[in-house]
Amino acid sequence: MTDTLAGIPRHRLQAIAKREADRYVASRPKAAEALRQGAGHYLNGVPMHWMADWPMPHLPLVAKAQGAKLTDIDGHRIDDFCLGDTGSMFGHSPAPVARAIKAQAGRGLTYMLPTEAAMAAGRLLTQRFGTFRWQIATTATDANRFALRVARAVTGRPKVLVFNGCYHGTLDDTMVELANGRTVNRAGLVGQVQDLTKAATVAEFNDLAGVEALLQKGDVAAILTEPVMTNSCMVLPEPGFHQGLRDLATRYGALLIIDETHTISSGLGGYTAVHGLDPDMFVVGKCVAGGLPTAVWAMRPAVAARSAAYDETRAPGHSGMGTTLSANPMQFACLAATLAEVMTPENYAHMEAGAERLASGLGKTIEKHKAPWHVVRVGARVEFICAPGPLKNGSEAHHAHQPQVEAAIHTALLNRGCLIAPFHNMMLVSPATTDRQIDRLIAAFDAILTDLFAETEE
Ligand SMILES: Cc1ncc(COP(=O)(O)O)c(C=O)c1O
Repeated sequence: MTDTLAGIPRHRLQAIAKREADRYVASRPKAAEALRQGAGHYLNGVPMHWMADWPMPHLPLVAKAQGAKLTDIDGHRIDDFCLGDTGSMFGHSPAPVARAIKAQAGRGLTYMLPTEAAMAAGRLLTQRFGTFRWQIATTATDANRFALRVARAVTGRPKVLVFNGCYHGTLDDTMVELANGRTVNRAGLVGQVQDLTKAATVAEFNDLAGVEALLQKGDVAAILTEPVMTNSCMVLPEPGFHQGLRDLATRYGALLIIDETHTISSGLGGYTAVHGLDPDMFVVGKCVAGGLPTAVWAMRPAVAARSAAYDETRAPGHSGMGTTLSANPMQFACLAATLAEVMTPENYAHMEAGAERLASGLGKTIEKHKAPWHVVRVGARVEFICAPGPLKNGSEAHHAHQPQVEAAIHTALLNRGCLIAPFHNMMLVSPATTDRQIDRLIAAFDAILTDLFAETEE
């Protein structure tokens, strides 16, 4: 029997991976040289450790990005479907945000005081996402961290309930997983000395009975979840799952925190607005200020009242929350510009139509080659998964990953001028993305699958 990975004969995959890696290296001498020169000054040769995890033989270096296009220093013009893994979901440097940055640059960058734009941004946040009391952070990691602190304070309970395979940023409390049905610290954490199981408990996504069993223990302050699991191979909620979570959280006195950092792709107001969810707390980061580092977190007025009551009782002293450069005027200028002029119904309609075109094209290509794969889409966010679907939970998503296959495809796509998000096979359609770019990506995907499945098609 042929040795296969995701339906592809292994020897064929290896040959194609090598061919594509050689082609990549041959076409990027300037990037290789620049990386060589800079490498000694950075830990592992890169300014952020995960940059070393991209699957190509080495990184490209970006000269410029605009709209949905990147140009690298070797002169390649690349259709960008990674879009900073959502940070630039609305395109690189959207014009209203670029204008706001230019105007604010002449008025100071940070002063620990609000501006008129800050007040406007508060109103726009409520208009866009619903009636909450808002706070600003710089990363979604921090936003989740602060939201959890408030949830623990007002409920007086220690634990966060998260789903196996989730990612909510590098928030220690969520770095747990299921091992034989038990919550454990995730493997691979660097320098982690805490027993995180005291602060967190894990259920499988789409398993309401499992969630209820954990809530019954009475020590869960909050359920923290994405509406769709996007940080593994994408897992959609089954019908009734979110209503079930809402009901269970209410019944057992836990708060429901919805992290929309990726599912803001769903449409205006995120998955929450599009699908009528009713969270107690709400988090969104990455693209919310058009790519300028900003995140927001919020609580319903009733939770805000409980938080105020808690504040009355606590001892004077530092709350343990907040960072100096957060809520700076540049963030508010970009946040207000994005909410008012970029997160528009017209832009979302364009993104939705383009993503539908992309998902349908990829799906047909997969069918044509009889690959045992599938495609998932959440608004502007599309993913092909090199395994049959749909996936039900994080454990299934973990097993669906095919790192070797994915690495070969990512490099081959980049050789054909298309960049998709690393670590999973995710593609975003921005307001600037054109049908021609989408069709080029579908054609490149088809060319690669033609090679990968050639033998099995013979
Ligand atoms: C759902 C979700 N929440 C939070 C984060 C953390 O965002 P940041 O890296 O900006 O802190 C991420 C990052 O990928 C995410 O996917």
